[in-house]
Amino acid sequence: MMLVDGIPANAVPATDRGLNYGDGLFETMRLHGGQVPLLARHLARLRAGCDRLQLAYPGDVAIGDDLARLAAAAPGEGLLRLVLTRGDGGRGYAPPADAQPRRIAARYPLPAAGSTTLAVGICKTRLGQSAALGGLKHLGRLEQVLAAAEVIAAGWDEGLMLDSDEHIVEGTRHNLFYVRDERLCTPPLDDCGVAGVMRGLILEVLAAQGRPGTEAPLRYHDRHEISEMFMCNAVAGVRSVSRLDGRELGAARFAAALRAPLAAAGVAWLA
Ligand SMILES: Cc1ncc(COP(=O)(O)O)c(C=O)c1O
Repeated sequence: MMLVDGIPANAVPATDRGLNYGDGLFETMRLHGGQVPLLARHLARLRAGCDRLQLAYPGDVAIGDDLARLAAAAPGEGLLRLVLTRGDGGRGYAPPADAQPRRIAARYPLPAAGSTTLAVGICKTRLGQSAALGGLKHLGRLEQVLAAAEVIAAGWDEGLMLDSDEHIVEGTRHNLFYVRDERLCTPPLDDCGVAGVMRGLILEVLAAQGRPGTEAPLRYHDRHEISEMFMCNAVAGVRSVSRLDGRELGAARFAAALRAPLAAAGVAWLA
């Protein structure tokens, strides 16, 4: 089922700026027990993204109504995807002054669970760096499209993406945490990568436990110093990495310790 501006439909005009320029944002949310447990976090990120792109935020009520209708349409688990574009916009990059944002909300089945631990390789496709876009979940996802094709061709479960300064930033569809010298760290996302909802929640849970995770860059050449790695997103939760670039990693101690506090914080499907 799909709603365009709250109306059942499965098409948008060819003039939509999301289609023409990637001019918009999206959220992918886990539906669990008829609810979106991390809804407030998704809406907060979308609102913040709208501020950065100067895109009018449609409001919690309109979005909440769309999502509630999609959740009620069928029982069971699933995922909800909300796309917000700058709407129709003629020819040329300049955003029209009277732009009317368009929201597209859709429900999909959960992806196949796959293996519980991930064998992860290193993608050749790099992430472009731009302070204007760093952290945003914007619609321009060609880098991930190319990298995901690499992951399939190589037979990995997921691939790590580097920026042009040889830093490992994130996966094609996950953020990452790594353990180095017994310290749990996650790469900063100031000029590329998506500031994930699950990553944000994990940082909060760690801080509440009094053992904060640190934002620290991870150089590709230092990957052998990592003793543990796990990846996270709002649909899967947390998945530990068993193989990193052909090397077996140690037991997933840090990831295992996060399960109970994350379940208590709303990631109930991890319990
Ligand atoms: C490129 C990328 N990075 C990170 C994430 C994790 O974001 P979230 O925790 O909000 O799902 C995703 C999620 O799909 C992603 O596509």
